[in-house]
This record gives sequence, structure tokens and C-alpha cells, in this order.
Amino acid sequence: MPCEALSGTARVPGDKSISHRALMIGVLAVGESEIHGLLEGEDVLRTAAAMRALGAEIARGDDGAWRVWGRGIGGLSAPEDVLDMGNSGTGARLLMGVLASHPLTAVMTGDASLRSRPMARVAGPLAEMGARIDAREGCRLPLTVVGTGDAVPIRYRVPEPSAQVKSAVLLAGLNAPGKTTVIEPQATRDHSELMLRYFGADLDTEETDEGLVITLTGQPELTGRRVRVPADPSSAAFAAVAALLLPGSDVCLPDVGINPHRGGLYETLREMGADLSFAQRREEAGEPVADLLVTGGSLTGVEVPAARAPSMIDEYPILAVAAACAHGTTVMHGLSELRVKESDRLAAVARGLAACGVTVEEGADSLTVHGVGGRPRGGATIASGLDHRIAMSFLVLGLAAEQPVTIDDGSPIDTSFPGFVDLMTALGAKIVSGTGKP
Ligand code: S3P
Repeated sequence: MPCEALSGTARVPGDKSISHRALMIGVLAVGESEIHGLLEGEDVLRTAAAMRALGAEIARGDDGAWRVWGRGIGGLSAPEDVLDMGNSGTGARLLMGVLASHPLTAVMTGDASLRSRPMARVAGPLAEMGARIDAREGCRLPLTVVGTGDAVPIRYRVPEPSAQVKSAVLLAGLNAPGKTTVIEPQATRDHSELMLRYFGADLDTEETDEGLVITLTGQPELTGRRVRVPADPSSAAFAAVAALLLPGSDVCLPDVGINPHRGGLYETLREMGADLSFAQRREEAGEPVADLLVTGGSLTGVEVPAARAPSMIDEYPILAVAAACAHGTTVMHGLSELRVKESDRLAAVARGLAACGVTVEEGADSLTVHGVGGRPRGGATIASGLDHRIAMSFLVLGLAAEQPVTIDDGSPIDTSFPGFVDLMTALGAKIVSGTGKP
């Protein structure tokens, strides 16, 4: 619902990418790992359940910390039932990598969104390493991974910028003798590399003419560690943009991960004139972290280059909302990967903005948003389409619009940002549920 300034301090939940990796790598280590600030969203809980089904012992303490008793590399056992990864592409694809180099058979499925997403990008390199992946037509879930105890280390050039594909190959490479190499023409988030190193893996990276070359030495002994998961910059983005769009706002979001491979949105918002800064920079478990300070003000449209896409791939829906309220036009390039996220985000954003009275042009892999220079009309009902980021982005638009925006189904928000409505409400936002209660 339309509202005035936001103010206060709020810690958004733990980083989704890092949480999945902490659980998986913790299970592959020897000894106990303790994870603080794990995201307790549905996606990550599905990963925890899958790791338990593969024989791992994982428990949440009364102090909120998660403890993982590692099985060691190669130590997983075959699950007795289908692994249901819910809505999570990261959970599914990274786990495929882990399973590929274990001598076991596992069947994996997910919700309607995940079952529609392409898995060939992961199945291809994992098959080269010796695993067999039998999938539904179009290489979609449900699928069966027949892993191998004799995985072959490969040299793999990732054709599309995808941290999930890179990570799947590296995780499979953990149980392959010798060196597994991944080449990234365009660098993507490096949480897997940072965490593997933090747990003791031998991993080198080198910038070359081909791109970033990442080399992992197989069969290391990983040792259980203490991990503190930073607040998720992709979740902080919703509160930050809401604050920017509501003049007079003054918000602090502590402990946010500021990994440069995730920083594209914040760079773009600054170019648009946002008053946004990072204070108290520090490091947690190999990841850079800071407190994000945001002050409301007016924004101006910009051109966002395709090269920036990997560092803000999950943030285009909320950037498009900021662009809708900005003065002038924003053009975003290099968006083809948005079409294979939890929904076709390019189409969903274009459709949703148009329904809210904003003029947009949807290209094959670009989006042009003509900002209204203030509050857009709003007043539409948006289908979230099992996509948490579409739901949250349009709720933020509703705060900054003239008329309320309704989301048909807010339940997907819990996959990545449990407590979203409460946190936003505490900052002064007006979001009411279907029952009419806040
Ligand atoms: C993720 C990588 C990205 C991103 C996703 C999380 C990860 O996906 O969209 O939300 O944790 O590795 P792609 O690898 O498909 O770009």
C-alpha cells in the first residue's frame, strides 16, 4: 500500500547462496561445522533435508546455530526416497554436482517452477565427469543421477555465465583425482571458491585471455569450520530500494554481504543518484561484509551494460521498480538468463510494470523502462508465478505507487526471505495480508 518514509535498522536474513554452500560443504568436510545466521528459508531447508536424506547429521541448536557433522568427501549414502528440492535451482544444481561423484543413485524433483527449468547446463559437464543423468524431456526434473566413484576431472568452459554450473562442476571435482578446471569467460559469484578454500581445499584462480580459470585439486581433506553467514544483499535490495523511493527515509541494513560479484545493483543505484553507502567494512568466513546505509531521494534513469548482468542477475526485477519511479529512461542489456529463473522474469517484470501504468519495452534480452519521475499509478494485481523476487519487487512498487498493488500469492517469499512483511512493517511499510491483517 502507498506509504511515506521508512526508518530504522533491520537485519535481513542470511545469504541464500552461502547458506546452501555452507550446508553442502560442511557435510563434505570431516568433523563438526557450526553455521550461524543460516537462511531458514524454504530453499535452504530443502537442501538441509536432502543432505540428511543422504546420511548427514544436521541439527539446529536452541541458540539458532546449525551444526553439521561432516561425512567427508565421498561419504554420502543413497537416499531412500526422492529428493524434493522445492523451488530451488541452486539447491538442485549444486546437489547434482555433489551426487555426480558419489557411487549412488538419487532421484530429484521440485515444484512446478523448478520442474520447468533447464538442467542440461549441469548434466552436460557432469556426464563428461562420468555420471549418468536420466531426465524428463528437455532435461527437466524429475531426474535421476547415477553417480560414479571414479569421477574424471575435466576442464570445462562454462558457456553461460552461471555460478550454479561452475559450482556443480567444482563440487563434483572434489571427489575426482587430479585437477578439475572451470573457465569462466564472465566471472560470476565466487562463494563456492571462497568457502571451499575456507574449509581447506586447494583452489587456484587465474585471470587469462580466455577468462577466469579456476583450478581445484581433487580429494582434499576438508575440515569442519565455523561459518557466519552474511545478510543477503539480494534480500537487502528490497528494503534498500523501498527506502530510496520514499523521500525522507533513513534505513540501516547491518551485516550485508558485499562480495563484488554481487554488487551490480548497488553500483547501478549509485549511478542513478542514490544516497547509499557501506559502513564498517569487515570480513566473515572469507566473505566481505558491511552495514548498508540508505537515504531516500530521487533517482535518474541510466543504461545498464550487459557486462554487469552476472553481478546483479537476481536484482533486475527490483531495479526495474526503481527505474519505474526514476526520472528518465533506464535501459538494461544482457538479460537472457532472466528468462530461465524461477519464472520468466523479463516477461513478468514487463507485464507487471505495464499493468501498474509504466511504459516499458521488452526486448529478447533487454528491458527499457520509462520512469514516471515519482509515484507510478499502481493499482494492479500481479501474479507471482511461484517467483519470490517478482512478489517482493511488486510489493515494493506498491509502497511507492499512488494506488495499492496486490500480489495474488505471497507464499513464494518464504523461499528466500522469511519474515519479509514483518521486517518491512517494522521499518514503516504498509503491507497487509489477504486477511486484511498486517
Ligand atoms: C546462484 C546463482 C545464480 C542466481 C541464483 C543463485 C548461486 O544462478 O540467479 O539465485 O547461488 O550460485 P545462475 O547460476 O543460474 O546464474
